Amino acid sequence: MLRFDILTVFPEMFESPLSSGVVGKALKNKIIDVRCLDLRDFTSNIHKSVDDYPFGGGGGMILKPEPIFEAVDYLKQDSALKQSVPIILLSPQGSKLDQSKAENLAKNDRIVLICGRYDGVDERVAKHLVTEEVSIGDYVISGGELAAMVLIDALTRLQRNAVGSAESIKDDSHTSGLLQFPQYTRPSVFREWEVPSVLLSGNHGQIKLFRERESIQRTLERRPDLLDGADIN
Ligand SMILES: C[S@@+](CC[C@H](N)C(=O)[O-])C[C@H]1O[C@@H](n2cnc3c(N)ncnc32)[C@H](O)[C@@H]1O
Repeated sequence: MLRFDILTVFPEMFESPLSSGVVGKALKNKIIDVRCLDLRDFTSNIHKSVDDYPFGGGGGMILKPEPIFEAVDYLKQDSALKQSVPIILLSPQGSKLDQSKAENLAKNDRIVLICGRYDGVDERVAKHLVTEEVSIGDYVISGGELAAMVLIDALTRLQRNAVGSAESIKDDSHTSGLLQFPQYTRPSVFREWEVPSVLLSGNHGQIKLFRERESIQRTLERRPDLLDGADIN
């Protein structure tokens, strides 16, 4: 089982998105476990405030270090957090999440995710607590929660028995380094648009060849940058 411990000021955000589809089933089948810690529970001030003004001025507030360090200390004491468990800060400044990073992270049995908010997180968290900063792309969103959900979904799909057909994961875009071939379902003719006849032929060798060619062609057209690292053989 892969367990995620999430440090957030908005634990309620995780309820609905994680309850459906592949992730919802994986939770039900105990393939993954998701536990949220509310950073406000780890504050010592009467107002339970988790943020403060930045030293040096400038707009925006900064997530304070104390609640984050306290929450990780709690995990260490309460649930024997091992030294080897990745402690990830979601950050637009982190290394970009891609399929190979997802595959590596998916091998863990536990991951701590720290969700930033406001104008970011006190730098001492990145310097002295986290093992890695991960970005979901070169753009800025308002908090780490959605980024954490993206990470959880990508890693959950890679757990054994999480997705109905292991075959379909193997063919996913980016798994082999290429984009996936086009897919069709019934009806075979829709508004006069026909499904490529080879897919209806029952000839598995021809179908495999067709899909491989389509995969390479659309990668070349849409993402030629991927072809450098692709295993086209
Ligand atoms: C508004 S952002 C702060 C961005 C910060 N001022 C900067 O320029 O690096 C608030 C939080 O959202 C999360 N976040 C924003 N964009 C992200 C991205 N592309 N990937 C992962 N997390 C992101 C981070 O946790 C971040 O601390």
